[in-house]
Amino acid sequence: MAPDQVKVAPSLLSADFARLGDQAQAVLDAGADYLHVDAMDGRFVPNLTFGAPVVEALDAITDAPLDCHLMVREPDDRLEEFLDAGADIVTVHAEAATHLNRTLTRIRDAGAKAGVALNPHTPVGVVRNVVDLVDLLLVMTVNPGFSGQDFIETSPEKVRRARQLLDEHDSGAELQVDGGIGPDTSPRVRKAGANVLVAGSAVFGAGEPFEQRIPRLRGRQA
Ligand code: DX5
Ligand code: ZN
Repeated sequence: MAPDQVKVAPSLLSADFARLGDQAQAVLDAGADYLHVDAMDGRFVPNLTFGAPVVEALDAITDAPLDCHLMVREPDDRLEEFLDAGADIVTVHAEAATHLNRTLTRIRDAGAKAGVALNPHTPVGVVRNVVDLVDLLLVMTVNPGFSGQDFIETSPEKVRRARQLLDEHDSGAELQVDGGIGPDTSPRVRKAGANVLVAGSAVFGAGEPFEQRIPRLRGRQA
C-alpha cells in the first residue's frame, strides 16, 4: 500500500484517559484518519474499557469517524447503544457473533459501516460467505485485550491471505490490522495489503510528536 492509501487509526486505549478529548483532537490535528475505540467487556477479553457513553462524548466533539472495535460477547445485544452513540464503524468479532450475516446487516441498516474482526487463530475464510456485507475486515495481529503487546510474527502472511480473499470477491472493504503496529511492523503489514493501521502505544507512547509519528506509520517521513 502506498503511503497516501494508508489510513492511521490511533487506539484511544493508550491515551491519557484524564485528557481523552484533548488527545483525540491532537491526533486528528496531526492527520489521523479514524479514532479507534476499543470496547472490552471483561468476558470476551480479560480487560474492561469503554462503553457507548465514551463514544457519545467523542461524537460531540468531532466529526472524525469513530471506529468502534467491540471485543464483547453477544455483540448483538450491544449494537444499538453504540450505533445510537454515533459509531461510524462497528466491528464485531467473528468468534463472538453467532449470526454474523444478521449482525452485519443490522449495522449497515443503521447507516454505519460493518466490520468483522478475526482473532489470530481464526482463518480468513470465515468471512467468505458474508464478504458482500463487510465494509472492514480486521486482522488482529495480537491476542485482543491489551495494548503494548508484541506483534505476532506470522501476521503478514495472514494479512496477505485476507487481501487475496477480498480481491477475489472484488470487495472494496478496508483491511485493518490491530496490535503491535509501529514503525518496525507497519512496512510489513502495508506490503501485505493492509490499508488501515490501528496503533495505540506506538502513537501515544512514542516519545515523538504525533505530527511525525502518524506519517511515519503511513510510510512517509515527516
Ligand atoms: C488490543 C486492542 C488494540 C490495542 C492496540 O486488544 O484492540 O486496539 O489498543 O494497542 P497497541 O498498538 O499498543 O498494540
Ligand atoms: Zn482494537
